[in-house]
Amino acid sequence: MNSTTIPVFNPDLPIHMTFEEHDWHLLAQYWYPVALARDISEQPLGTRLLDMPLVIYKMQDELIVAKDACPHRGVPLSLGKNDGQGVVCPYHGLRFGTQGKCNRIPAHPQHKISDRFHLRTYAAVERYGLIWCSLTADKDAEPNIPVMPYWNDADYQQLVCPQVDIKCFAGRQLEGFIDVAHFAWVHPDTFGDPNDVEVPNYTTTETKYGFSADYISSVGRYPIGLDQCGQEDFKWLRHFEISLPFTATLTIHFPNDAKQVIMNAASPMTARQTRLFAPICRNYDKDLPVEEAYDFNLKIFEEDRLIVENQKPEFLPLDLSLEAHFPADRSSSMYRKLLRKKSFSPLFAA
Ligand code: FES
Ligand SMILES: [Fe+2]
Repeated sequence: MNSTTIPVFNPDLPIHMTFEEHDWHLLAQYWYPVALARDISEQPLGTRLLDMPLVIYKMQDELIVAKDACPHRGVPLSLGKNDGQGVVCPYHGLRFGTQGKCNRIPAHPQHKISDRFHLRTYAAVERYGLIWCSLTADKDAEPNIPVMPYWNDADYQQLVCPQVDIKCFAGRQLEGFIDVAHFAWVHPDTFGDPNDVEVPNYTTTETKYGFSADYISSVGRYPIGLDQCGQEDFKWLRHFEISLPFTATLTIHFPNDAKQVIMNAASPMTARQTRLFAPICRNYDKDLPVEEAYDFNLKIFEEDRLIVENQKPEFLPLDLSLEAHFPADRSSSMYRKLLRKKSFSPLFAA
């Protein structure tokens, strides 16, 4: 007798899973940015998080993040348009309004609309100029979103860089952001100094959400070519706060009490596709055009792109015996150890 395996379809899981299912369930509990708040309007915007296609739209002040698949025949709602009362599916005209609920079935205007026609919606909030979403968090619970220092401080300017798409695993990207030994090699055209290659010792401390690291060195953060404000022997403190799995903030202490905070929030669209969001706070240069800050930071991220898109293996080996490490890797070793402690696979996102 022929035995045929009938695939099991679970609408709560993505159809095309690039993560190991075990890792996917762990990752789905966290919050990630999925869009820039300034890009969201009543018109539907399509994106992806952990392989799940998402549609984002607004109804008055309500933010809706839902699975980007019409419950009728699976057409993406991001192909549709909002007519003022909801997003209209381009195939048979079903319309989805507040809370993602279907409020019109044109073929049967007299029928009561069953719950089966409502969109599957997800917990979502706006914070730091970004739309954050969790695929499994309870909608009524306080969202567990990493803290961005100085976001509500009137002495600081708040900006949000345009998003950057990178063809790599989010874990490799995040690890590059907290790596302190590559400045001279990857960033000589922005802030690194090719002659300043030695990495002083630094410390890491485990925290509730991950760990922190304090790195003090002579590597500045002004665009190269500018002087260091006449402070030759200035030591730069870089304070990192890492929130597992893929977000970190870096507070750079400049001369004269100037500070800049960059959040590196790596959003895993798939296991090989990362969308990087980067809100920034600074208490200096507040009158300069924000485009200059965007351009400088994007240039730095572009320098990193060459590295993170070419690392092999593409996944992050959490088993420390699989790659070689030196003392300057203290942060990345800690990162891998803590991810492993959270039960992510030894070949994370293989
Ligand atoms: S597929 Fe959307 S209305 Fe039929
Ligand atoms: Fe870098």
